[in-house]
Amino acid sequence: MEKVLAYLQKNQSRFIQELCDYVRFPSVSAQPAHKEDMNRAANWLAERARAAGLEARLEKTPGNPVVMATTGRRKGRPHYVIYGHYDVQPPEPFDLWKTPPFEPTIRDRKIFARGVSDNKGQHLAHLYAIEAYLKTNTELPADVTFLVEGEEEVGSNNLAAFLKSHREELACEAFVISDTGMPSLKQPALTYALRGLTAFEIKVTGPNRDLHSGIFGGTLENPAMALCQLLAQLRDKKGRVNIPGFYDDVKPLTKLERAEMSRLPYKENDFKKFLGVRELAGEEGFTPNERRSARPTLEINGLTSGYQGAGSKTIVPSWASVKITCRLVPNQSPKKIFKLAAAHLKKICPPTVKIEITEGHGGDPCIVDPTSDIAKAGLRALEKAFDAKPMLLREGGSIPILNDIKKIIGVDTLLLGLALPDDNAHSPNEKFEIESFTRGMQMAAYLWQELNV
Ligand code: BES
Ligand code: MN
Repeated sequence: MEKVLAYLQKNQSRFIQELCDYVRFPSVSAQPAHKEDMNRAANWLAERARAAGLEARLEKTPGNPVVMATTGRRKGRPHYVIYGHYDVQPPEPFDLWKTPPFEPTIRDRKIFARGVSDNKGQHLAHLYAIEAYLKTNTELPADVTFLVEGEEEVGSNNLAAFLKSHREELACEAFVISDTGMPSLKQPALTYALRGLTAFEIKVTGPNRDLHSGIFGGTLENPAMALCQLLAQLRDKKGRVNIPGFYDDVKPLTKLERAEMSRLPYKENDFKKFLGVRELAGEEGFTPNERRSARPTLEINGLTSGYQGAGSKTIVPSWASVKITCRLVPNQSPKKIFKLAAAHLKKICPPTVKIEITEGHGGDPCIVDPTSDIAKAGLRALEKAFDAKPMLLREGGSIPILNDIKKIIGVDTLLLGLALPDDNAHSPNEKFEIESFTRGMQMAAYLWQELNV
């Protein structure tokens, strides 16, 4: 182990440089204009894996390629799959970035760039840990395969089929994923539950074109107003989602979980300040930590209608649309929730507009046993690398493929996240602390020892 850790230490500045190279690719999966950048980022990673001593290849899918890289399989040895994603969220709005999103900049021991924390820095930490074993000729106690995809941020729509067609190659003891968070560098964490989600869009249409609001306004429905009134009905006074049946399958939190959650560091005033809001809001009867990780929600992600340019334009717009996602918790089903929402919206839609509802991507919620041997090994690796007792977390984000890993490969996932709450994932000025990166590599190095004692 000493040789491995020394190698990580000695090569640290190269690793940081390479992470900077990796985040220079604008691998934004949501935007078709970046199609070629997806291939470039995937190729870079495969090349990097080869340099680390792995066999690597790109595999085509109907969407972006999957990078597969392996230490090779030897009979009778345990095998683990490390999953990550090289795609990133759109960087917009550009003007809020202090330095451009795809020109990595180091300030104050933090690397700023889109995708550096979510997720390029996190899976690269695992790759360097493996490199350290291979290059120091230290016996790696398991065979390891990297599966790094390019469509996580848009719902991993092609990955379930990929898992199915690579069942044998991916048969393993567990999937290891660093794509979640930890409360602080002094409080590492193992995440044992994530929310699922269902995405959909609503479009309401009124007149067949935008109309003069002076000549026609007041005689017909304004689609933007109709949509706002529909949306306003989706939340009740208690902050609950007002769709009949929405909460039917929600598994309530146990006393033990609520107790564990209440131990999470949380200061309401700091939190408000960090978010820039005057007051918090949410479902009555639950703490903010519970609301953001273990309760389902319905969020408006984007709302569009009418004239958005400079100055004013006096019109009744022809249509209005909204992008919505619901975060779901264990036992809720994305398909079922979509159906409930669509049926309800059609029912309450006034006859003055036409409504169209389009289903988007979805992902199941997931919960694993935090007391399994594998989870315990993860906890020990975290403790060694971060020098602190790790906590158990339920988190609010989603990794859409999680439940398919269980269903198709039949194994659990070990979530050892390295992101900090202020890493600005999906926001302007995303960053990854150099210390998260270096301790993350150490954690990844210890993990292989701990998994096999
Ligand atoms: N890394 C996140 C998931 C995450 C975030 C887990 C925070 C725990 C805490 C992942 O890259 C992500 O953002 N997933 C998307 C999935 C969606 C686009 C289908 C998400 O949660 O919005
Ligand atoms: Mn993300």
